[in-house]
Amino acid sequence: NWTTEIFIEEAMNQIRYQVGDKRVLLALSGGVDSSTLAFLLHRTIGNQLTCMFIDQGFMRKGEPEFLMDLFERKFHLQVHYINARERFISKLSGIFDPEEKRKIIGTEFIRVFEEESKRLGPFDYLAQGTLYPDVIESAGINLDSKSGERVAVKIKSHHNVGGLPKDLQFKLVEPLRRLFKDEVRQVGRRLGLPEEIVCRHPFPGPGLAIRILGDVTHEKLNILRDADFIVREEIKKGGLYSNIWQAFAVLLPVRSVGVMGDKRTYAFPIVIRCVSSEDGMTADWSRLPYDLLECISNRIVNEVKGVNRVVFDVTSKPPGTIEWE
Ligand code: XMP
Repeated sequence: NWTTEIFIEEAMNQIRYQVGDKRVLLALSGGVDSSTLAFLLHRTIGNQLTCMFIDQGFMRKGEPEFLMDLFERKFHLQVHYINARERFISKLSGIFDPEEKRKIIGTEFIRVFEEESKRLGPFDYLAQGTLYPDVIESAGINLDSKSGERVAVKIKSHHNVGGLPKDLQFKLVEPLRRLFKDEVRQVGRRLGLPEEIVCRHPFPGPGLAIRILGDVTHEKLNILRDADFIVREEIKKGGLYSNIWQAFAVLLPVRSVGVMGDKRTYAFPIVIRCVSSEDGMTADWSRLPYDLLECISNRIVNEVKGVNRVVFDVTSKPPGTIEWE
């Protein structure tokens, strides 16, 4: 509609005015906000925009390939893929506490971001997909004493981690800062982002690492990736994906006894977590049809080696949280 058109036109003018011929860095996550931002900036300043995509190894099945294919090969954005998988998982070895896991991942993310932005830079501006609700609680933002522009001292996608060093404080480009989520989706759609991005469920920065309870190993990551893929695929096939806030799998670090063929098994359980929500602050567990649950359960125990039991989480938020860690 026309308000989206006008927004895009005005945002492009403002971006041109603000950054001139300077270089802009963007940390692309593949979420709706950073993807819409990348499209908007690319349309406005072309190759003055550099995107950085940090693969910490905790993404969903096929996600890094999907994103690189889409942004780089299909839409010709300049995206630097950074494979930091081994770095992150080795840092998590032997770590069981949820808060500690989150801290380690956040800190490591900042380190990789620093190193890579020095290598690819220098950059004058950092683009962030700040939305209106984030502006209201604008922690981690200072005003530049000379220009009065907002300056990033923290990275939004991983809150609660230490600030950026002094020599890496960027001026911010935040063209989405007056928008709510549903408006961002309209803008993204208008700019040509595929529905698969526009309508996707939220996904936490620390990724699958906080859906494997306790310590994270390659084996558990592979199991969870495959189980999670099945959950989402069946929910999509059932036509329920867009009515649901989030649907995913969680791996529990215990084993139970089962039987398969004429053999006893001793393997992990997978939890199906599926909720409806308006904003993630409160949530209700989704009453999935029994047939769908049966299909997901059968497929997971048959197709994912290392899993012999599937359970369904019937806890709302509060008292549960959406994620398990
Ligand atoms: P909880 O588990 O607190 O989650 O009920 C509420 C919403 O926030 C998402 N979430 C995160 N998103 N970084 C993010 O970007 C994080 O560390 C993080 N932790 C939780 C969660 O997926 C849900 O949508």
